[in-house]
Amino acid sequence: MKIVVLTGAGISAESGIPTFRGSDGLWEGHRVEEVATPSAFQKNPELVHQFYNARRRHLLQKEIRPNAAHLALAEYEAEHDDEFLLITQNIDPLHLLAGSKNVLAMHGQLMEARCIETGKVIPWKQDLTIHTPDPDLPTRIGRLRPNVVWFGEMPLRMHEIQQAAQNADLFVAIGTSAVVYPAAGIVEETPATCQRVEINLEETPQSDAFTQTIRGPASIEVPKFLNRLQR
Ligand code: OAD
Repeated sequence: MKIVVLTGAGISAESGIPTFRGSDGLWEGHRVEEVATPSAFQKNPELVHQFYNARRRHLLQKEIRPNAAHLALAEYEAEHDDEFLLITQNIDPLHLLAGSKNVLAMHGQLMEARCIETGKVIPWKQDLTIHTPDPDLPTRIGRLRPNVVWFGEMPLRMHEIQQAAQNADLFVAIGTSAVVYPAAGIVEETPATCQRVEINLEETPQSDAFTQTIRGPASIEVPKFLNRLQR
């Protein structure tokens, strides 16, 4: 079976990472256009760095760990011969820490930095500032940015995502509000024969596009769903 899973901030909520939307969401306390766009980085790179430095520091705290939903996905992938692609919109490393192998981080990874001149991507856990030198070229400063996709930028590896969706037998969307495109439109790329399952606390604007909707917390519902699938 060809399985494609799409995850959003909801899968990491129970690990202590705030989601974006909703009453205490990240975008309630910050203006997207000031911290998460290419023009924000041009106008005020220090503010953008501060925003992502705070996020990165938070993710590095030892209590931020994969929860039962991340672990169940990794376990399923390891124990079955299905073709398994895990697409995540999340920039946290929790799928990787859980042991998932075939992870496609379509909005990038906060634990990586990218050179704005060469596009080179390197693992990165420290704060970034406008004075941070490139480790390979210490005389070059201020050329590194978080390796995350900002609003107005194209998510990564869209061609691969489209191909996988078009060939999927099972598509599972977990903890995503389905308002940010192109991620929200992936379900519509899957063939008519594909079983489409949405796992979320709430209904989303895309709920009607799914053949099954499961309402509840990811840490409970994802392991339950994957267990049923194995039988
Ligand atoms: P959102 O914050 O928009 O949505 C989180 C979703 O998770 C909501 O639909 C919640 O109902 C659901 N949810 C919350 N807790 C849950 C739980 N314990 N179990 C199951 N579901 C739960 O996050 P995303 O959909 O990931 O992009 O947001 C998409 C993109 O918008 C992000 O990748 C980010 C953001 O702006 C960029 O920064 C480019």
